Amino acid sequence: MLLTHHQRDEYLGRDEPGGGAGRTTDPSCRPGPAGGEDGRVLPDLVPAAPGLRTAFLTHGYTVDGVRALLGRAAHDALTRGEPEAADRATRDGGELGVLVRLLLLGATEPAAAVRAALGDPGPLVGAGLLRVAGDGFAAALDVRPYADDAGSGAADDAWWVVSDLDTPAARQDRDHVTGVGGASLSLAAAAIRRPVDATLDLGTGCGVQALHASRHSRTVVGTDVAPRALALAAATLALSGVRAELREGPWLQPVAGRRFAHVVSNPPFVPGPARVDYVYRDSGADGDDALAALLGDLPGVLEAGGVAQLLGSWLHVRGEDWPDRVRSWLPPGCDAWILQREVVDPAMHVGTWQRDAGLDPAAPSARARAGEWLDWAEARAVEGVGFGHLLLRRTDAEPVVVVEDLVGELGGPLGPEADGWLDRVDWLRAHAGDDALLGATLALTASATLERYAVPGEEGWAEAGAAVARRDGPLWRHEVDEPAAALLAGCRGELPLGELLALLSFAHDRPYDALVAATLPAVRELVRHGLLVPVAP
Ligand SMILES: C[S@@+](CC[C@H](N)C(=O)[O-])C[C@H]1O[C@@H](n2cnc3c(N)ncnc32)[C@H](O)[C@@H]1O
Repeated sequence: MLLTHHQRDEYLGRDEPGGGAGRTTDPSCRPGPAGGEDGRVLPDLVPAAPGLRTAFLTHGYTVDGVRALLGRAAHDALTRGEPEAADRATRDGGELGVLVRLLLLGATEPAAAVRAALGDPGPLVGAGLLRVAGDGFAAALDVRPYADDAGSGAADDAWWVVSDLDTPAARQDRDHVTGVGGASLSLAAAAIRRPVDATLDLGTGCGVQALHASRHSRTVVGTDVAPRALALAAATLALSGVRAELREGPWLQPVAGRRFAHVVSNPPFVPGPARVDYVYRDSGADGDDALAALLGDLPGVLEAGGVAQLLGSWLHVRGEDWPDRVRSWLPPGCDAWILQREVVDPAMHVGTWQRDAGLDPAAPSARARAGEWLDWAEARAVEGVGFGHLLLRRTDAEPVVVVEDLVGELGGPLGPEADGWLDRVDWLRAHAGDDALLGATLALTASATLERYAVPGEEGWAEAGAAVARRDGPLWRHEVDEPAAALLAGCRGELPLGELLALLSFAHDRPYDALVAATLPAVRELVRHGLLVPVAP
């Protein structure tokens, strides 16, 4: 995963992605309209894509090639948004150096150098990739190599993502198309990669989620309300040799009547007043209303058993429990797992998104806009804004809904965790009765640890408690008392839970029924969090 845009990190996601590719260029990648919302002529890189792809591969403008040219320190510096070290590293870099300076560093390169690297620049100016700058050429778009963990590194696997330039001026455009940012990576890392027939990428933007989806989905449809986003997604897909269908329109409208096994979406999720300053960020609806509406509509495009995975934000309103707020939006007939990854106060929310848009929050115009935003928050008694992942699965069974916090660092990508969550929910549903659970054999997951902790006491450290925790994935941690620790020690995949509890009842001199009643809810939680794993009889 290389050279992501440097902004939009913590608050917008901090996972490492994993998973997913596909190939071939499909004319259906091309969007229909010829003009953007602001009347600018839309870029159209699709006709030039085969030639560009060949040039990129020939000169090594790939994830591995750029990394090798820059070296780790300059590469890391560039990822942090510091171009100078990378510029130095490219000086003797031949055509690859020219491409890095032109497309990643925002430099103007002499016409002869551009011609040597990319061929005749004229058509590339016409296509919207380059612009004439004095005697040379500069990039009018951001085109960067991209890869996932599943890529073999071979030419067939090479991807490039096309987005708007990440300059403060370009970021001010209402229809600015962002590149791969923290939120994009967070969703890519959380997406389940089970092979499916059809995936919808709602709000495809630069097309990054569609690239990932193409690894595991036979067909991919990307939709977006913004023609400019679709034009750049088409460029991404064509350059990357990935086949997908692109459709223009708001929310689920372009796919009305169609069904998908998987929906992924990093929608414009930033709660604020009902207006659109930036189409990638603002839904146009008040607060978190758009997320609520989208959740309600999702079952209409999910096939039976189909899964939707979204990023989203929700308001924390004075006097209201945020889980109740999100629960109230969930459609019937769906399992749901809502994971809150971060909560910030309104001032932090506004400041974060102003900086993300390239604004200086101290500038008078930004202050005025921040004031309006904070007035809006105050009027709605907003105390905080939560951000996180939402997973929905259409089911005919009694739905399972879990809304929980998962703040802080992760021990691995959420994708396998989401996949496992669905299986675990199915297993728990099949073992809903106490007798079924007592008859099951469980084992601690291999990454489980028992942590005992102590606090300062009158005679040195005084044992204060214990917790069982996972060292991988979400790093779930559960406090346990001594009988529970003893029970877990016995969960080695040998004896059914009921027999272990009978032994424990005898050893600790506690009535069996009381022990069962006290233990089973916790066991269900531990299974759901992957600390206890069912063992086939
Ligand atoms: C945060 S960007 C996500 C881009 C990309 N999918 C990613 O993961 O990086 C949100 C995208 O949603 C699009 N969008 C905004 N409002 C929309 C709407 N009402 N319906 C569909 N797409 C919308 C924007 O144009 C933008 O491309």
